[in-house]
Amino acid sequence: MDFLVRRDDLHECRLADQETGPLEPGQAALQVDRFGLTTNNITYAVFGEAMSYWDFFPAEDGWGRVPVWGFAEVEDGGDTDLEKGARIFGYLPPSSGFVVTPHRVDERGFVDAAPHRANLPAAYNGYSFAEAMEVYEPRREAEQMLLWPLFYTSFLLDDFLGSERLFGATTAVLSSASSKTALGAAFQLAQREGVRVVGLTSPGRVGFVEELQLYHSVVAYPEVASLPKEPAVYVDMSGDAAVRAAVHDHYGDELRHSAVIGATHFDRLAPEEARSLPGPNPKFFFAPDQVRRRTAEWGRDGLDSRFADAWGPFVEWASGWLEVVRRDGGEAVKAAYLELLDGRADPSAGYVLSP
Ligand SMILES: NC(=O)c1ccc[n+]([C@@H]2O[C@H](COP(=O)([O-])OP(=O)(O)OC[C@H]3O[C@@H](n4cnc5c(N)ncnc54)[C@H](OP(=O)(O)O)[C@@H]3O)[C@@H](O)[C@H]2O)c1
Repeated sequence: MDFLVRRDDLHECRLADQETGPLEPGQAALQVDRFGLTTNNITYAVFGEAMSYWDFFPAEDGWGRVPVWGFAEVEDGGDTDLEKGARIFGYLPPSSGFVVTPHRVDERGFVDAAPHRANLPAAYNGYSFAEAMEVYEPRREAEQMLLWPLFYTSFLLDDFLGSERLFGATTAVLSSASSKTALGAAFQLAQREGVRVVGLTSPGRVGFVEELQLYHSVVAYPEVASLPKEPAVYVDMSGDAAVRAAVHDHYGDELRHSAVIGATHFDRLAPEEARSLPGPNPKFFFAPDQVRRRTAEWGRDGLDSRFADAWGPFVEWASGWLEVVRRDGGEAVKAAYLELLDGRADPSAGYVLSP
């Protein structure tokens, strides 16, 4: 099974039979077991062209495979060092299987050295043996598929803001506060002394976010002007031009930093010729920069173990409200994708799908 999306019309999608050929020397075949699907994957499709997300798992002309995070098993190791049956966590196509060219295989995992991935960001080309991951727990596989890729960014963002002492701010304002990535960032930020964490969300989701009792306050998008004016940083998960303008207009010079992380409101993004806003220019938060910085200071093991320390409490907390919705088969993948694309998904739900 292959789930394909029309690159110039993300609502047009279809299931196709997957074509497989014999393995070439140096290749191994992986069978996709399960993967998580959240708005983050929709963002991969929205920026498929601009940020080359379509290039990871190429499809026929005009169509794309939306990348997902999940578990796969080695179906055929070919002549490589991968052992049949090894369980792997990483970046996958929404398909029954795919072929990798394993390189630098060690006890932790390997890198896919397929020529078409050579110029793509390295963070997505690494695959881990599940058992070798510090965060791996078999009973938490669903949470790992759904939250690991998001919380990694949440963790790094909090670490970045913390290392900058929140640019002198005392309040962190997060948009799309109901998203799992924002919740992860809020979970981390709320542990910092002297930081008030404010969540902005759609009017209909205020209740859900308030019930989580994570943010110090939760405000609907139309109420931004009701927030107390104090030195603040804006963490923009929505990408929504109107919400961004409202936050900048409201805080003005009290806004100390404006970080762009997500684009959940991808149909309301600021056009390139956006009007200049009061306060600092919005700056894209590029997680790999923070990884590089911390790897240089802490080493890879140091970063991994700090992440694992943060992951444990977060996943414990999240498992209290996250409703894992398991579905099997191509039609279920299509339905979940369309629901997320249209913003109809319940924020407490996390789709775990099997192709
Ligand atoms: N830069 C990075 O490295 C990085 C890494 C991870 C994630 N992210 C980004 O973080 C964002 C959140 O991802 P997630 O997977 O955590 O999301 P999620 O949990 O699936 O978030 C769901 C929430 O997003 C908003 N939303 C989703 N689709 C919408 C639509 N069509 N129209 C209006 N609102 C919609 C709604 O929140 P509200 O009503 O509260 O707005 C909804 O409750 C994504 O844009 C993702 O790309 C970025």
